[in-house]
Amino acid sequence: MSVAAIKVTNHYDRYVLANYTKVPCIFKKGKGIKLWDVDGREYLDFFSGWGVSGLGHCPTKVVSAIKNQSGKLLHVPNNFYNNVQGELAQVIIKNAFPGKVFFCNSGAEAVETAIKLARRWSEGRFEIITMKSSFHGRTMGAMTATAQPTIHKGFEPVLEGFKYATFNNVESVREQVTSLTSAIMFEPIQGEGGINVASTEFMEGIKSLCEEHNLLLILDEVQSGIGRTGKMFAYQHYGIKPDVMTLAKSLGGGIAIGATVISEKVAHVLSPGTHASTFGGNPLACQASIAVFKTISQQKLLKQAQIMGKYLRKKLDELKFSFSNKIREVRGVGLMLGIELVDDGEGIVSKCFDQKLIINCTQKNVLRIMPPLCVTKKNIDHATAILKDVFAHEI
Ligand SMILES: Cc1ncc(COP(=O)(O)O)c(C=O)c1O
Repeated sequence: MSVAAIKVTNHYDRYVLANYTKVPCIFKKGKGIKLWDVDGREYLDFFSGWGVSGLGHCPTKVVSAIKNQSGKLLHVPNNFYNNVQGELAQVIIKNAFPGKVFFCNSGAEAVETAIKLARRWSEGRFEIITMKSSFHGRTMGAMTATAQPTIHKGFEPVLEGFKYATFNNVESVREQVTSLTSAIMFEPIQGEGGINVASTEFMEGIKSLCEEHNLLLILDEVQSGIGRTGKMFAYQHYGIKPDVMTLAKSLGGGIAIGATVISEKVAHVLSPGTHASTFGGNPLACQASIAVFKTISQQKLLKQAQIMGKYLRKKLDELKFSFSNKIREVRGVGLMLGIELVDDGEGIVSKCFDQKLIINCTQKNVLRIMPPLCVTKKNIDHATAILKDVFAHEI
């Protein structure tokens, strides 16, 4: 490690909370699907920073929107209007369903908003059913909604009023419905849970269950939204619409922004004084997000994600065929793909990293592959060649 690099890690060791397991690499620059570290080494990013860099690093339009806006206005409180937030809300609604948007700064906050909305809407009914292996964030409400015991460990007692059911099993959800249930919340594709795709039967079954019992259907699209699956939102692969949808990650093209999209029927619930976010919907983040939607539309990135998703899937299926003793299943939609391994996957991730390919492993044995929507066939050939080499040399 260079002297400059040692200085960086020393600062972290001394001053930054050690709540993340760290890879010993210091990034300095990114463009598109590529990242460079402080020593000039180039990496191929097939993970997009947990899905945040969905348009790749430093997308041109986002960068110029930020540059442009930063000289004009960064923040005004939400008890005034700003000239950008309304425009972004319109863009989101036009791409989603009729309703209103609440702006915040992260996925967990978007989820907290959905939880508060469900409680206040149903006046006394306060239970929310979520799915095992879900992930909704780290704040107390979002963490409680996350039905993974390892994530709750040490933080008990968790919030009252959450019930857990089995993903893709309508009957298991039905069993949890009581006279106190107000909402059902899940991810159309569980990301942290191991790239588990909701079946059409599940999606339709839960929608009917919600209608039958007057429950809100909340879909968490923090990871699956903004084109990741080849549609703007993953629910659009199914013939249903949610009552509430949470967004963050790719929404800002690298800038922190979250949103809770609330259908017309319940948009009145969070009236003045019931909910707020100081930074939510600031002009800088909103301009970045408008540029994200413009880029997706002008560069036809949804189509690109569908085509590249198919190509990547084909390559990963071939990988499974060649290493059927090591790979159990390839699954996912568009550019949100997982490779379930027979054994643990951290070794594969670090060997890929040695060859300058960034991927991730979740739930110990699912490799998560989520390149930005601008990925090319050449990038996919390069990444899958590295994966093949790593699998071939794995003992
Ligand atoms: C589906 C889902 N919801 C919520 C969150 C929390 O988002 P944030 O880390 O921005 O709070 C995540 C983060 O990974 C997520 O994947």
